[in-house]
Parts: sequence; structure tokens; C-alpha cells
Amino acid sequence: MGSVHLIDHPLIQHKLSIIRDVGTGPKEFRELVEEIATLMAYEVTRDFPLEEVEIQTPIATAKAKVISGKKIAIVPILRAGLVMADGIMILIPAAKMGHIGLYRDPNTLRPVEYYCKLPVDIQDRDMIVVDPMLATGGSASAAIDFLKKRGTKGIKLVCLIAAPEGINRVQQDHPEVDIFVAAIDERLDSHGYIIPGLGDAGDRLFGTK
Ligand code: PRP
Ligand code: URA
Repeated sequence: MGSVHLIDHPLIQHKLSIIRDVGTGPKEFRELVEEIATLMAYEVTRDFPLEEVEIQTPIATAKAKVISGKKIAIVPILRAGLVMADGIMILIPAAKMGHIGLYRDPNTLRPVEYYCKLPVDIQDRDMIVVDPMLATGGSASAAIDFLKKRGTKGIKLVCLIAAPEGINRVQQDHPEVDIFVAAIDERLDSHGYIIPGLGDAGDRLFGTK
């Protein structure tokens, strides 16, 4: 069974409180989502394997450690995942980026797919799927399904705020996937919004409402 990692570093909690605030506008919201994703990347990459190399410092030769040829793809779920993906790419600039377009039908709450473009060699890559909100878990579960059907090495899911319902759904559908979240909120409301959450992440990021 994959684990649920709650990354509740004080810097992350502080920034999360600002983006939850209804008064925070899109510019600051985007900047903070990117920063939180960068901070989360530090924990998400903690298990990356290292190898020893010999380097020359200005003083002497030294045995040093470098990340050992790990091939990564960051996969934002459009559109709200895009800004998180940029934040993670700051720390893993050699990663490739794939995109999966899904929106949640407001009536059925089921994910509707509209776009998919992935690196050609995803079979050789570990995938980091990113989306700020894990509500019913339908979108994340569908995105992971999509990647598994095409064959990947491993998948991690990184979200800012999760509802218990979303975590349960992903764990049921994809028990091998590790889930990283910055907060686990109370529950969903009758429209599938996370309580207290931060509202509609896509609209707040891009100023569309
Ligand atoms: C939001 C969010 C997730 C999804 C979560 O996207 O970014 O993708 O809802 O809900 P779920 O766990 O119940 O599936 P939305 O459908 O609003 O699309 P958008 O990113 O284009 O705004
Ligand atoms: N999608 C969002 O953007 N916010 C929620 O609270 C639930 C789904």
C-alpha cells in the first residue's frame, strides 16, 4: 500500500493559510502555489537514489554524491496543476513535462478528459502527478489510470489540499501510489468542494471568476 505523506512544514502551512484566504488575488495566489509546490518537491524527491562520483574541488579530489540518472516526468492535471508543475520543475529542471486535460463535470462530478500529451518514453520514467485539489479523487484517479495504461515505472501524486474522500478513492483505485499533501481538510460539501478548502483552484489561479 502506498503511503499518505502530510508535509506540514511551517513555511508550507503559513503560505497555505494565505492562499485559503478569500481576499488573496490571483497574482499572489499563483506565486504562493508555485512556492508551496517547490517546498513540497523537497520531500517528494527524498527517496531519489544517489551514486558516488569523483570530482575535483579547487583543493583536492573528492568523492561526492549525485542523483543517479533518474528519469522523471511531471504531469500536471490541467489546468490547476500547471502552476504546481512549474514549482516542482525549479528543483528538477531536467524533468520532462506531460499534460493531462481533465475537468470535473459540475453535475455528475465525474472527470471529463479533453487533452493528453506525454513524453514518448514514459515507460522509462517515474511520474509525479500534480493537482492542487484532491476532492472526490475522480480526476486524480482517472489521470493515474491513464498513465498506468500506457505503462510507467512509478507514480506519485502531489496535491496541496485533500479531502479524506479523495485520499480514500485514490488509495482504493491505486493502492501502490504514494500521496503527498500539504493539508487534509474535513470533508466535501454537496457540490464536491473541499471544506474549508480554498474554493475553485483553477479560477483562483487564473482569475476566471
Ligand atoms: C479541479 C481540481 C482537480 C479537480 C478535483 O479541477 O484542480 O482537477 O477539480 O476534483 P475531484 O477530486 O473531485 O476530481 P476542475 O475540474 O475545476 O478543472 P480546472 O483545473 O480546469 O479548473
Ligand atoms: N476543485 C477545486 O478547485 N476545489 C475544490 O474544493 C474541489 C474541486
